[in-house]
Amino acid sequence: MKVVAFAASSSKNSINKKLIIYTVGLLENVDVEVLDLNDYELPLFSVDREAQIGHPERAKAFFDKIGQSDFLIISFAEHNASYTAAYKNLFDWCSRIDSKVFQNKPMILLSTSPGARGGSSVLSTAVSSAPHFGGRVKASLSIPSFNENFDLASGCITNPEIQSQIMKALESLTSEVD
Ligand SMILES: Cc1cc2nc3c(=O)[nH]c(=O)nc-3n(C[C@H](O)[C@H](O)[C@H](O)COP(=O)(O)O)c2cc1C
Repeated sequence: MKVVAFAASSSKNSINKKLIIYTVGLLENVDVEVLDLNDYELPLFSVDREAQIGHPERAKAFFDKIGQSDFLIISFAEHNASYTAAYKNLFDWCSRIDSKVFQNKPMILLSTSPGARGGSSVLSTAVSSAPHFGGRVKASLSIPSFNENFDLASGCITNPEIQSQIMKALESLTSEVD
C-alpha cells in the first residue's frame, strides 16, 4: 500500500509539511512518499502558455505520483483565505492533463496555520471541491494555533486531543483501503 503525501505549500519551513511528516509517521506497514512542491515548480499557468508548451513534464510527473498512490494525505497552507499560489498553479497545470486530478483516490485533507482558525477557509474549499476533481475525502481536520500545539524539537503534536483526531482520521482512511 502506497501513501503519497504533501503540503500544499512551497515554503522551505512549511508548518503544513511538518504536520504531514508527523502524520505519515503515525502510519504503520505502508510505503510513504512525501512530495515537495518545489520539485514541481512551473511557469504561471495560462491558456496561452499552455498553447506554447503543452503539458509540462513536471505536471505529468506530479499527476503520475497521484496515480501511483493508494491514498493521499494533503495539508493545505492558507494564503488570503485560499490556496497558495504554488499549489494552485500546479493544480491548474495538472487539471489540463485530466480534470480528475485526484484520480478517484481516497484522501485525508488537513490544514494548519499559526492562527486560531487553522486554515479552515482553504480546507473548506478543498473539501467541497475535491469530488469535482476525482477526490474521495474520507476525513478532514483543521489544526489551529500550530505553534502552540506542535513541538518543533520532537516534530510531534503535543495536544492529546488533536493527536487523537489525527489518529481517527488515519483510521478512516486505512479502513477504506483494507
Ligand atoms: C501571503 C500570505 C497570506 C496569508 N493568509 C493567511 C490566511 O488567510 N489565513 C491564515 O490562517 N494564515 C494566513 N497566512 C499565514 C500562514 O498561515 C502561515 O504563513 C503559514 O505558515 C503557512 O503555512 P506553511 O508554513 O505550510 O506555508 C498568510 C501568509 C502569507 C505569507
